[in-house]
Amino acid sequence: MGFISLNSFSPILILFLYSSHFISANNSSNHVDLIAETCKNLSKTDPNVSFRFCKTSLQADPHSRYVRNLRDLGFISLKILRHNVTETRIHIKNLLKKKKEKKIDPFIKECLDDCLEVFSDAIANVNDAIKDYKAKLYADCNVKVSSVLDASTTCEDGFKEKNVVSPLTKRNGDAFQLSAIALFIVNQLNK
Ligand SMILES: *[C@@H]1O[C@H](CO)[C@@H](O)[C@H](O)[C@H]1NC(C)=O
Ligand SMILES: *[C@@H]1O[C@H](CO)[C@@H](O)[C@H](O)[C@H]1NC(C)=O
Ligand SMILES: *[C@@H]1O[C@H](CO)[C@@H](O)[C@H](O)[C@H]1NC(C)=O
Ligand SMILES: *[C@@H]1O[C@H](CO)[C@@H](O)[C@H](O)[C@H]1NC(C)=O
Ligand SMILES: *[C@@H]1O[C@H](CO)[C@@H](O)[C@H](O)[C@H]1NC(C)=O
Repeated sequence: MGFISLNSFSPILILFLYSSHFISANNSSNHVDLIAETCKNLSKTDPNVSFRFCKTSLQADPHSRYVRNLRDLGFISLKILRHNVTETRIHIKNLLKKKKEKKIDPFIKECLDDCLEVFSDAIANVNDAIKDYKAKLYADCNVKVSSVLDASTTCEDGFKEKNVVSPLTKRNGDAFQLSAIALFIVNQLNK
């Protein structure tokens, strides 16, 4: 008997589950489109930034669900960038710590020392960039984000100069692309 009454309820249950699925997969907010469109425009104008990287990075941020416009998205991109360069600086410090115990190649140590300095400046610059962004000083913000972008290339080029394999290639690539994303949005807003 219990089975029968359960069965008679199941169409309603199915309807309920279906509609709750429908509500939770709410696409009426336009954040998906804004991110996709911004990333498409950027990857078209700048071959250094992959569409997929851009979209995945921005969508991975929990706040990106609530973006209403490009200004919101730019703020998110700067915070992602700040988090990324902060993590990379910590990583470099850890590498140097480990290397101290293991007696590293003096060339690599030199490169890592340079990168540590470069990323320390980058953190200061991204913090200033966020202040400028809040004050809508987009031209100033551009200058600071550009220097963060340059930091990742400077760090990576240091290893190339000495012909050693960089342990930071992926992180430098991430910082480079994230800077380019933030720069693109800041420049759109500055128009
Ligand atoms: C929501 O948007 C994504 C990406 O545009 C799409 O793949 C998905 O099918 C949409 N879901 C619904 C329920 O419309
Ligand atoms: C669906 O999108 C609308 C419009 O952006 C928003 O107000 C609402 O909170 C969203 N609902 C859910 C369940 O995400
Ligand atoms: C993307 O580019 C098109 C064509 O230039 C433009 O109309 C649109 O506003 C841009 N979208 C974003 C989000 O930047
Ligand atoms: C892409 O990256 C290269 C090397 O870092 C740089 O010289 C070039 O200007 C970049 N292209 C754009 C469109 O930013
Ligand atoms: C930096 O950002 C990229 C793109 O969002 C992400 O894949 C990577 O895990 C981040 N790295 C760190 C150390 O947070």
